[in-house]
Amino acid sequence: SAAEKGGFRSFMDKEIHDQPHAVADTLLGRTDTAGHLVLDEIRVDEAVLRRVDKIIVVACGTAAYAGQVAKYAIEHWCRIPVEVELAHEFRYRDPVVDARTLVVAVSQSGETMDTLMAVRHAREQGATVLAIVNTHGSTIPRESDAVLYTHAGPEVAVASTKAFLAQITAAYLLGLYLAQLRGTKYPDEIAEILDDLREIPDKIQAVLDAAGAIREVAVAMKDVPSVLFLGRHVGYPVAMEGALKLKEIAYIHAEGFAAGELKHGPIALIETDQPVFIIVPSPRGRDSLHAKVVSNIQEIRARGARTLVVAEEGDEDVLPFADQVFFVPRTASLLAPLLAVVPLQIFACELASAKGLDVDQPRNLAKSVTVE
Ligand code: G6P
Repeated sequence: SAAEKGGFRSFMDKEIHDQPHAVADTLLGRTDTAGHLVLDEIRVDEAVLRRVDKIIVVACGTAAYAGQVAKYAIEHWCRIPVEVELAHEFRYRDPVVDARTLVVAVSQSGETMDTLMAVRHAREQGATVLAIVNTHGSTIPRESDAVLYTHAGPEVAVASTKAFLAQITAAYLLGLYLAQLRGTKYPDEIAEILDDLREIPDKIQAVLDAAGAIREVAVAMKDVPSVLFLGRHVGYPVAMEGALKLKEIAYIHAEGFAAGELKHGPIALIETDQPVFIIVPSPRGRDSLHAKVVSNIQEIRARGARTLVVAEEGDEDVLPFADQVFFVPRTASLLAPLLAVVPLQIFACELASAKGLDVDQPRNLAKSVTVE
């Protein structure tokens, strides 16, 4: 009903606007007064977690992209190798899993059959399974060794938005917890990242408050046949999630690519007026990734692409090559997905609405896929 949508046109629109709360609530109560991480709810023997020599994240759809973001953060903070695998592929390829493997199952519903089968398979092989799940009392946490709940609240729209941000947030907490336990980060460093995380909800709100420009662009683009998305490092899963949202609800062909792959194929797709979103890493980051992605924008613009750039506030280097820029507030490089994905969600939601589609109930899709 209209009341349930809280004045928004759709549940998806409402859930996009709930995201500051989804992140804040997922952080809430998980630090002590001194700002130290407290995750007693992870009821796995600390000795087992200290011995873990590999993490495999299993999930489907949007939850798998949250897992890809988790990989960058956990490897960087904990120095543990992290694989991310679609649950249905993991289950059927004879994966190397043993008692020193931590399998992290990410799922909004906690009922996705493919993810559940992966959980069962992992436990049969002796792995410890930790679930990151939004729905209390669902099957996946019941069958796992431990659960870290996301506190996004009920998600109604089929296409996941606020659960995605909450999954990424929970994965960061897990990474920081393992770093604390294994001593791969100093307590001060962990406290600093937690401070940055606590600033994220207000920064998401700032992105929402500035969404007028992306909405206008989305409406004007409602008849485009295809949109490409490029990102690098943690921007890569953001690009793939942006493309998935557009496919799911607007029925537009969309593909996400790693920006570094451009010259290995995707650049052949660039012709006049092809819209391309580019998720630009922070200019303050290391490894000159920023300059590399800016040069990608230049390359595709020179071939006629219409460039839609998501960049950090104050990044003037992108201006000469951008048809449109959507700025998001500054944050630590690894946390940037929590901000950069928001304009892409709004773009898909607004474009699908402009086409007159039911954004909450896209054709052929189910909120929770409980068959294999
Ligand atoms: C379905 C939904 C997606 C969701 C995926 C995984 O495909 O349409 O939005 O990302 O399932 O669902 P889960 O509940 O396991 O996160």
